[in-house]
Amino acid sequence: MSNSEFFRMTDVNKFYPMGEEQAHILKNVNLKIEAGEYLSVLGPSGSGKSTLMNIIGCLDTATSGKYILEGQEIEELTEVELAQIRSSKIGFIFQNSQLLPRLTAQKNVEMPLIYAGVPPRERKRRACEMLERVGLSDRMQHYPNQLSGGQQQRVAIARALVGNPSILLADEPTGALDQKTGRQVMALFQELNREGRTVVMITHDMNIAAYARRVVHIIDGVLTEGGETKDA
Ligand SMILES: Nc1ncnc2c1ncn2[C@@H]1O[C@H](COP(=O)(O)OP(=O)(O)O)[C@@H](O)[C@H]1O
Ligand SMILES: [Mg+2]
Repeated sequence: MSNSEFFRMTDVNKFYPMGEEQAHILKNVNLKIEAGEYLSVLGPSGSGKSTLMNIIGCLDTATSGKYILEGQEIEELTEVELAQIRSSKIGFIFQNSQLLPRLTAQKNVEMPLIYAGVPPRERKRRACEMLERVGLSDRMQHYPNQLSGGQQQRVAIARALVGNPSILLADEPTGALDQKTGRQVMALFQELNREGRTVVMITHDMNIAAYARRVVHIIDGVLTEGGETKDA
């Protein structure tokens, strides 16, 4: 990627209506991310992490402030343009893998490519390649309920990556996994980052945040730099 500073939020605020009042959820958030970084956003429950993730992922927009993603000013885009950015630039991973239960692992990974209009053979090739990449070449024809929690999450990671997004955005990706499986998923994130993926991971767990190369803290909607971790 030519533009190394590809992501910048300036004085971002988010308010949600709460009865007659407005609840101030994100407070003057400033955040810059460079291509190839592995950043974690660490904060307790209710601190505004998912609200921030939704804005980063263009699922929601800020009430005020500026957000630039790969040179594009996000506030100025229409719903259709936002949907295009989501599908082309962002790979989402959530706490629960959110796989479609009636589709095999391979078909689940193909889904984003179906929406993108990629022809069937090419879809299949790329889905299989991604499933191999996450260590599931022998599970491609399994259905989600035939896979362990960690395997399901790896399918979700393959699905998030198959469209070759600029940024992998994960909200509590190990929240539903046991410790050992969580560590395996974290090892995979580290590998993907070493291969050049930009990763932003949101978590309330210090031990999980420590896998990233840089940590920012969010408390009550206020974001502060936490510096580099030991892994950097
Ligand atoms: N759609 C919404 N409408 C009103 N309040 C919301 C909405 N989404 C989140 N909130 C509030 O914003 C605060 C932060 O929520 P969230 O970003 O989900 O925190 P976290 O992910 O850190 O647990 C919480 O107090 C929550 O109740
Ligand atoms: Mg959350």
